[in-house]
Amino acid sequence: IYHTPELTPSSEVPDCAIAIDVLRATTTMVTALAAGAEAVQVFSDLDKLIHVSEAWPTEKRIRAGERGGAKVAGFDMGNSPLDCTPEQVQGRRLFISTTNGTRSLERVQKAASVMAGAFVNRRAVVNYILSEQPETVWIVGSGWEGSYSLEDTACAGAIAQSLLKELQLPVDQLAGNDEVVGAVTLFDQWKDRLLELMHHASHGKRLLRLDCDEDLKYCVQMDLLDVLPIQREPGVLVKK
Ligand code: MLT
Repeated sequence: IYHTPELTPSSEVPDCAIAIDVLRATTTMVTALAAGAEAVQVFSDLDKLIHVSEAWPTEKRIRAGERGGAKVAGFDMGNSPLDCTPEQVQGRRLFISTTNGTRSLERVQKAASVMAGAFVNRRAVVNYILSEQPETVWIVGSGWEGSYSLEDTACAGAIAQSLLKELQLPVDQLAGNDEVVGAVTLFDQWKDRLLELMHHASHGKRLLRLDCDEDLKYCVQMDLLDVLPIQREPGVLVKK
């Protein structure tokens, strides 16, 4: 587990990388694909997003831009998963740039398989790992501008804990991997009060200040969607 994309080793490439941004980018991506979006294409840079998406037919694209939690002016939507209704996204490509989540997906895009994880699709992520059995798995929290975030670490812990249970491995098996022990312990402590945890998180507080209470409630719904956004070509994720 890496708490921010910046902490991933630049000289190594894992078999499988799972980027997590519970609040809210990866939750939004899962929701968009579940609602029928053709694909999700991620950009760290807003200008590049506009440039690339210009080549796409207008009725087949939707541009999502978020900075500091707020919608970027001129974009079709911000980064709320609740905006990803079938009416909005079905058959369209979601071109998205967010403060941290899209950066972490870009950072790991050279991994043999790359996916987006959140609480809403935790089970789909775990099932993929159990069936493909990759040797090295990175779970990369997006954090906030290079700092640790509670919500992404708790989600990484949820994935790790579920894998341990399915593989019938004791928690002792993790000894020596401080990040995983810490994440599993955090999740275990809060697993029945995830919404409360979001209210303690710095980005959760930021979103509450922006009146995004409903987003927080949506993002903590465990295993809501059986959808795994998986990278088909660099930066482009489709539904597995
Ligand atoms: C991000 O990428 O930093 C987030 O998803 C921010 C947000 O809540 O929109």
